[in-house]
Amino acid sequence: MGNLFRRYWIPAFLSEEVPTPDCPPVRVKLLSEDLLAFRDSEGRVGLVDEFCPHRRVSLWFGRNEMGGIRCAYHGWKFSASGECLEVPSEEASGTFKKSVRLLSYPCIEQGGVVWTYMGPPELKPPFPEFEWMQVPASHRYVCKRIQESNYLQAMEGGIDSSHVSFLHSGELHTDPLHKGTQGAQYQRDATPQFEVMESAGGLLIGARRRADGGKSYWRITQWIMPWYTMIPPYGDHALHGHAWVPMDDENCYVWSMTHHPSRPLSTDERAAMESGQGIYAELIPGTYRTVANKRNDYLIDREAQKKGIYYSGVKGIAMQDASLQESMGPIVDRSLERLASTDIAIVKARRRLLAAADAVADGTQPPGLDPATHRVRSASFVLPPEVPLADVVEEVTAVVEGAHTSI
Ligand code: FES
Ligand SMILES: [Fe+2]
Repeated sequence: MGNLFRRYWIPAFLSEEVPTPDCPPVRVKLLSEDLLAFRDSEGRVGLVDEFCPHRRVSLWFGRNEMGGIRCAYHGWKFSASGECLEVPSEEASGTFKKSVRLLSYPCIEQGGVVWTYMGPPELKPPFPEFEWMQVPASHRYVCKRIQESNYLQAMEGGIDSSHVSFLHSGELHTDPLHKGTQGAQYQRDATPQFEVMESAGGLLIGARRRADGGKSYWRITQWIMPWYTMIPPYGDHALHGHAWVPMDDENCYVWSMTHHPSRPLSTDERAAMESGQGIYAELIPGTYRTVANKRNDYLIDREAQKKGIYYSGVKGIAMQDASLQESMGPIVDRSLERLASTDIAIVKARRRLLAAADAVADGTQPPGLDPATHRVRSASFVLPPEVPLADVVEEVTAVVEGAHTSI
């Protein structure tokens, strides 16, 4: 699966983590590799092996100065692209430094995110083209949090539309990013019927609930290989999505991306997201770890649970998800699961991931590399019951100039 993931551009860290030239470096963990991110004097970002090739001390303690990161132990210095610029003790020979390299991965900065590619250079795919990356910065908000579970059990929460009617039922009418919409009302139907279709890049996951007048309320979640999900919208609220990126087998970065296709996000919306509402979580200042976490039982409030303010007693959509997904343990034993009809999308996603990993091993291209597969939206709408989803799905999930239509 790691070989599969290495075929994609990876959202690696936020631009804001290295805000200015020569600012302090930050640690980044991706696909079980300990890496170091820094921004050099010219503003270029680098993502390199955290450990110095000399005697393997951490370059996090290094000095980011004059066009490179300098190891604090013996002063060897490296550029953002991993070139060894100086070995002070060996300068006399002038050739020694040419034989030294620091592992480095290519980076591209877009949408407030620094992306990297960790696969074979000759197989590097075109750069991703998700809509949230391409709208003006005023229309977008992006953040991440660290979750202490395998990426897959986190991602499976993102494609499991049926838990919303339970776990998040308290929020749908109060959260500023959801409330006041017809869709939030229809979520009361806790027996959705699923229709899951393969798309070019992953899956289109349709959940049908009862709407007024015998009609069907559809929510379409997009899952795009290998780890992107797009949440069906509510009313004309902004659109939200996630990327569930493995740090290692037992931890992941949960990226949350919000954008509105046709207007800047309001001050209120931004304040809500920054304070950890909606799909965001309150973070411990200076970190991407959450204030509510497994060491404090996610600040569970049994009184709020009883009163139905929060269905599980844990506050906030993100921590409701994280608490339950981490409660499975860092890698859940799937042989003990008992899946039901509402898990059909999860089953199909697992099969598609496994097939893609096999395909890569056999030398075939996996799905989701073509930027055309990223240029889609999630959707929510009402249809007469006799109209098949397949008839409308392409139109309602297309990225078109301007507003999205949802209820
Ligand atoms: S360990 Fe880095 S310069 Fe010696
Ligand atoms: Fe959830």
